[in-house]
Amino acid sequence: MYLSKYEEAMLRGDYGDLITRAMQVIVRVGDVLKADRLIEVETTHIAGVSYLTIGDPGLEYLEDLAKSNARFHVFTTVNPVGIDISSDWGIDKEFINKQWRIIDALRRMGASLWLTCTPYEYLRIRPRTYHAWAESNAVAYINAVYDAWTEKLPGPFVVLSALVGRVPRYGLYTLSGRAPTHIVRLEGDKAINDPLIAGLLGRRIAELVGDGKPYLVAKFGSNAVIKQLLASYATYSPHAFMVIDGVTPNHREYLNMADKPEVVDISVGDAYRGTEARAKDFDAVFLGCPHYGIEEVMSVINYVKSRGFGRARKPIYIATTPFVINALGQDIINRLKEFNIHLVLTTCPVVSPFLKSVGVGTVATESVKQMYYLPKMVGINYISCNGIECLDLAFNS
Ligand code: F3S
Repeated sequence: MYLSKYEEAMLRGDYGDLITRAMQVIVRVGDVLKADRLIEVETTHIAGVSYLTIGDPGLEYLEDLAKSNARFHVFTTVNPVGIDISSDWGIDKEFINKQWRIIDALRRMGASLWLTCTPYEYLRIRPRTYHAWAESNAVAYINAVYDAWTEKLPGPFVVLSALVGRVPRYGLYTLSGRAPTHIVRLEGDKAINDPLIAGLLGRRIAELVGDGKPYLVAKFGSNAVIKQLLASYATYSPHAFMVIDGVTPNHREYLNMADKPEVVDISVGDAYRGTEARAKDFDAVFLGCPHYGIEEVMSVINYVKSRGFGRARKPIYIATTPFVINALGQDIINRLKEFNIHLVLTTCPVVSPFLKSVGVGTVATESVKQMYYLPKMVGINYISCNGIECLDLAFNS
């Protein structure tokens, strides 16, 4: 593999043992993947940092790195962790302390502690720039919506990439590796406006194309539904890459690159097939997978307004970001609590015990990604609901 003089110096030990060891892993992985060289990344996004998923070994590994003066070389953001940093939600104190030690180790290494899976909503990411990201929904989003280039990378590998600012050039880091193999056409010309339907379509497309790369011809009514489409697609796809007609920058170039693509027609009815209810009743509504941005939270507030500011009978938990909390201010957050709507910060139910801690065993959710992970990761059951219908369930049941 070709290495620049600077990369050779990092590998040789000119920048210390830690950098040498990180470079050895990156070069070795690059060799296995038949990468021709390394590329410099502009940003990295680390996932897999909840104490629930990495436990003591992960905590000790990150603390050892921080103690050895490891410092991130590029702008680095971090996925949701196992706790809400503004409220304990009844989570065990030892868990909280250990999660804070992980957060602190990442802080000392120079990470920006946004602790969100939607960093793409707060960064200006230019087309055809390189990134090393580990969170699948975010990988799918920046590839499809910005035409920014990243593979779906494992969390520990991204930590090493952040230390040296490099990844091997392979797969989605090459134009040829991004050529569509399938053209997927959604029947009808109505824009998709329902988050649940978008998520079910994402899952169906992944099932149909396997490890192929779809060029999707469909219309979507908002960014919120595109988030659901891509989060679900990325859950079921090995690489999390699709091009969306009319959305992805340079989409025509991608279409022209497709060499004898297989054409697949799908319908909303296909997407629903095989989706049976898992539970009859539910304890709470969960929204915010991926983390809700300000527009999505405002649509909930508008819904409450349209109902004359009543109180929901079942609690509604919404996972969101520090940016949304700051934009809303404490008065609005307190008012939402009076309506039984609770904003949850910096965490996600599949990497946190918080839903169990507040006595929730079954949620109603619009997120197909949550439906996949909740039973497996934290033993929580679900029923599916669709956008506003989720709110109706909470207010009317
Ligand atoms: Fe984010 Fe958790 Fe969903 S990390 S994408 S809220 S599963």
